[in-house]
Amino acid sequence: MGRSVLFCIAAGFLLSGVLPVEAQEVDFKAKVQAINESINRAKELVREKKFQELGALVVSTETAIDELAAADSQGDFKTVVTRLKRQIATYRKTAERNGIELPKPDETAAVSFVKEVAPIFVNRCGGCHVRNMRGMFSMATIESLLAGPPAGPVVKPGKSVESRLVQLVSEGEMPPNGTRIPEEEIAVLVKWVDGGARFDGDNRMTPLLELVPQAGQPERPMLSVARATGSEKVLFSRDIAPVLVDNCIECHGDQNPRAQLGLDTFQRLLRGGDTGLAIEPGEPDESLLVRKLKGLAGDRMPLNRPALSDDLIEKFATWISEGAKFDGSSETETVVMLANVYQARVMTFDELARKRLELARQNWKLAVPDEAAGVFEAPRFAVVGNVSQGELGRVAEAAARQEKEVARMLRAPSSEPLFKGRLTVFAFKSRFDYQEFSRMVEQRDLGDEVRGHYFFNVVDAYGCLVPPKTGSDDSAADDALACLLSSQIAGAYLESLGTVPRWFSQGGALAVSSKLVPKDPAVLRLRDRLPEAMRNAPSAEAVITGDASVQDLPALQLSFVEFLMSSPSQFTALLKSLKVGTEFQAALARAYRADAKALAMAWAKNNGWSG
Ligand code: HEC
Ligand code: HEC
Repeated sequence: MGRSVLFCIAAGFLLSGVLPVEAQEVDFKAKVQAINESINRAKELVREKKFQELGALVVSTETAIDELAAADSQGDFKTVVTRLKRQIATYRKTAERNGIELPKPDETAAVSFVKEVAPIFVNRCGGCHVRNMRGMFSMATIESLLAGPPAGPVVKPGKSVESRLVQLVSEGEMPPNGTRIPEEEIAVLVKWVDGGARFDGDNRMTPLLELVPQAGQPERPMLSVARATGSEKVLFSRDIAPVLVDNCIECHGDQNPRAQLGLDTFQRLLRGGDTGLAIEPGEPDESLLVRKLKGLAGDRMPLNRPALSDDLIEKFATWISEGAKFDGSSETETVVMLANVYQARVMTFDELARKRLELARQNWKLAVPDEAAGVFEAPRFAVVGNVSQGELGRVAEAAARQEKEVARMLRAPSSEPLFKGRLTVFAFKSRFDYQEFSRMVEQRDLGDEVRGHYFFNVVDAYGCLVPPKTGSDDSAADDALACLLSSQIAGAYLESLGTVPRWFSQGGALAVSSKLVPKDPAVLRLRDRLPEAMRNAPSAEAVITGDASVQDLPALQLSFVEFLMSSPSQFTALLKSLKVGTEFQAALARAYRADAKALAMAWAKNNGWSG
């Protein structure tokens, strides 16, 4: 039966939980701006030697920064806060040096050793001083850490300036491999030592490795994703992603990225590299990435290549000053795909059709290199394969018929194509060729029961099948072909509506073909399977989470989507909202007044299953 491979643009709705509230962000920006102005004013006051006024300004600005830090509960803007604190601290010193007495800054917020300090030691010094004792210095426990190497303690509680550990770290001598630890982590260490190097765990003999749960993974602060609003001048997928693809990912890809900085997905870019965050939203001049492109921070990037043009560097700067927003569907999607998907969105039907035919020829060559493919081009399909030309034409004709049926069934306007660009239909002479295709192009082995499947990712859209043999029973072969094609066309159409979950497109594809060709043996087999699949599934939710065997899942998905379709007006409303760009969860909730989980429970109950 139809089976989709969804290396699809992953579910956008998963993001909604982590998005900063727009209003808060604007508020935050305004506050940072106000503080920046105070700092500029402080500079003037020093020049004008108005130290009394400077003192007052320092105190009020420190309060503003503390408020800012307190409001930043997610720690998204830690780097900005750290920088502001450092800047205002120098003005505090200037005022104090000039005889102004200021109240001590509020240090009541104590640093937690367990939560904040131990992770730094484990992640940055762990290999040499926690799991080992290089230089006879062990940080295995807080006791050995405070005892120091044989030469004596390296931490003086209350006195960071006199603590050798802090000195070595601030001077970049430890860790010794030239990878300085980020400023904000140094600030945590300083604060911890100045606060008395206190231990807030239960037992001073507990190994640091046990205090820090996911020890070993370098832990870094991470920015959260801010979504583009549409009014930005620079868009990540249009302007930035293609530059990263052409100039950076060769060295900053997912395998062994240089400086531990991956630039192959938006998420990895946000996470930063050895030095810490590579971008500070709103602060292009402070952002390591821009500084590296301009050659202002060690080696210029791209390393050993001509510099990017001023125009391109300016694009990065503008993107960051506009808040480093994300306009793609998923921040774990590769930049290659984001760039392609963007391009595909702006292409015309014909341009995309040409692109898909080109991809089809490439894929074919990869899978069946010793046999050229024939091509039959129809207005909305390109059938590509090693069956006879007549057979290619028969498949194209059947596809055109099924497209009309699918459109009618899903109430899509039949006057226009179901989606932009043609659908490629690969028609293989043998099952062996089909399996080779899947192995070479999709890097997976097809199960024996799979007769066809589809793939859709905006750039490419194709279905695969071995045309059923005509002969003794022509109508059975025609039915089998119709069944395969209609599920592939429906599946691709449902995915073209946006980022939809797998159960929906897969179940929808099966539901459509089951209605159109109800007597097909494959459809009957699926229906027979349902009771057993339900018995095997751990809960009703399995249909959504995919927590069922490959044999059971299609039967469950088919039945669940048929349940949703049993209320045609609601199903149509769902498709309509998807079509205008509503994200899936919201569209589902609007149409059915329930979420997927509640609907799955209702479906189970409807089937007499307590689930
Ligand atoms: C790659 C291994 C390695 C890492 C990572 C490392 N160190 Fe060291 N450390 C050493 C070696 C080797 C010595 C002894 C030789 C020396 O002094 O250079 C040492 C010595 C020290 C000493 C005592 C030396 C002195 O001069 O008093 C301190 C304190 C220290 N390290 C702190 C740290 C801290 C803090 C970190 C993490 C931020 C860290 N080290 C990370 C290898 C490492
Ligand atoms: C030929 C390999 C190569 C290419 C191409 C390359 N880089 Fe790098 N990159 C490196 C190496 C090696 C380092 C570590 C040394 C350094 O920081 O100078 C690095 C470091 C960096 C850092 C600092 C990361 C940190 O946390 O320390 C940034 C930012 C960066 N690269 C950005 C880029 C960007 C943006 C591009 C594309 C425009 C790019 N690089 C292209 C090799 C490369």
